[in-house]
Amino acid sequence: MPYDYESDAANIKENLNCVHIGSEILFLPEIDSTNNLVKEHAKNNAQEGLVIIAESQTGGRGRMGRFWHSPPETGIYLSILLKPNLNPNHLSFITLLAGVSAISTINEISHQRANLKWPNDILINDKKVCGLLCEVTQEQGNFFSVVIGIGINVNQVLEQFPEDLKKMATSLRIVNGSPINRLTVIRSLLITLDREYRLFLAEGGHSVIKKWGSNTDLFGKRVSVKRGSVIITGTAINLDESGRLVLRQDNGHDEVVASGEISLG
Ligand code: BTN
Repeated sequence: MPYDYESDAANIKENLNCVHIGSEILFLPEIDSTNNLVKEHAKNNAQEGLVIIAESQTGGRGRMGRFWHSPPETGIYLSILLKPNLNPNHLSFITLLAGVSAISTINEISHQRANLKWPNDILINDKKVCGLLCEVTQEQGNFFSVVIGIGINVNQVLEQFPEDLKKMATSLRIVNGSPINRLTVIRSLLITLDREYRLFLAEGGHSVIKKWGSNTDLFGKRVSVKRGSVIITGTAINLDESGRLVLRQDNGHDEVVASGEISLG
C-alpha cells in the first residue's frame, strides 16, 4: 500500500491552533524544492500560512546557490508562505524569527543547546543540523510574499551523509541517541513559528533580536563576512535594530552587514 502522506498532513494539522501558519498543509512524496513550489502557489495568490512539506527533494536549494541534500525518510524539508505587511527594511526579521523558532524547537526536542550561526544556520557541537532559506517573491504595496524554507537533519546516522558533509553535518538522532518522530518536530516548529510571528506583528522585532542574541555564541568573536568579492573582518558585536550584524573593525569603525557568508577569524 502506498504511504499515505495526506494522512500525515492531516495529523500535523489536527489541533494545530495556529493563527497564521497551516491555513493549508500539503505533504508530497517527492518534488524538486518546497521553496519553488510555494513560490508557484504564491504567484497564484495562495493564502498566507500555506505549508508544503516534501518527503524528499530532487533539487533542494541552500543559500549561495548550494544544493541541499534531501533524501527520504530522514530529514524535514518544508516551506511556509507568509505575507507580512512590512517596511521592506524589516524583511530580515522574518529570517531571524524563523531561526529563533527553529532553534527553540530543536533545543526542546534534542535536549541540547544549539547555536545560531549568522545569518541562519543552526549548529549543534559546531555541526550543522538545520539550514534556512528565506526568499521574497512578490510585492504589492507593502505586502510581501516571503517563503521560509527549512531543512532539518532529523534521523540521519553519520554514514547516511554524503562524504563531503560528514565532517560538517549532524542530526537530531546523532545528538539525541535515538530516532525522533518527524511529525512531532514539524508540529512543534509550526506552532513556535506562528507564536513568534504573531509576537513580531504585534510588537515589532525587539524580542526576535533579543532571542536571536541569546541563542548564539558569535558575539565577541572575530569573524570575516564575505559579501560577493568583498571580505569584511572585525569583531561581531550584536544585531542592530534592523537585525543586521554589527562588526567592529580594527580602526574602531562599526560596519553593518545584512547578508553574506561568515567564517571565524
Ligand atoms: C542553507 O543552509 O543553505 C539553507 C538550506 C535550506 C534547505 C531547505 S529544505 C526545504 C526548503 N526547500 C529548499 O529547496 N530549500 C529549503
